[in-house]
Amino acid sequence: MTRLDVNGKAVEVDADPSTPILWALRDNLSMTGTKFGCGMALCGACTVHLNGAAVRSCITPISAAVGQKITTIEAQPADPVGKAVIAAWVRHDVAQCGYCQSGQVMSATALLKGNKRPTDAQIDAAMAGNICRCGTYQRIRAAIRDASASVSAA
Ligand code: FES
Ligand code: FES
Repeated sequence: MTRLDVNGKAVEVDADPSTPILWALRDNLSMTGTKFGCGMALCGACTVHLNGAAVRSCITPISAAVGQKITTIEAQPADPVGKAVIAAWVRHDVAQCGYCQSGQVMSATALLKGNKRPTDAQIDAAMAGNICRCGTYQRIRAAIRDASASVSAA
């Protein structure tokens, strides 16, 4: 058994320590908001936070998360920054098929938690690893600027 902290809750996962966080979340904990895209840290669909930093859960083993805090898309509606990001996503009608979007939101919230007023270059750098096959990039950038304005005003 591996003990993990997921969204502030202590959970036990019956899986090999080398199991990627992605599969522990989806298969052991039935938390399916985190998506599998490439499995090779190339698309960002599986992005979660580990102690607040955006990481690719498809290549991060649960052994690396012991004693650390895992945060997933499921916790974002209850988080002030996550809430602001989701509200901006809705205002800008960002999602198309939606598959990449939980990863996009997780990268955006990690960015805004560390930097409430990122420049366009900082937004581009933070989001560069998140691929969207539907090409929603412009709306993602607009929504992040919008969320940044609400987070800075709060
Ligand atoms: S599934 Fe993890 S980066 Fe693509
Ligand atoms: S909204 Fe379809 S892949 Fe991004």
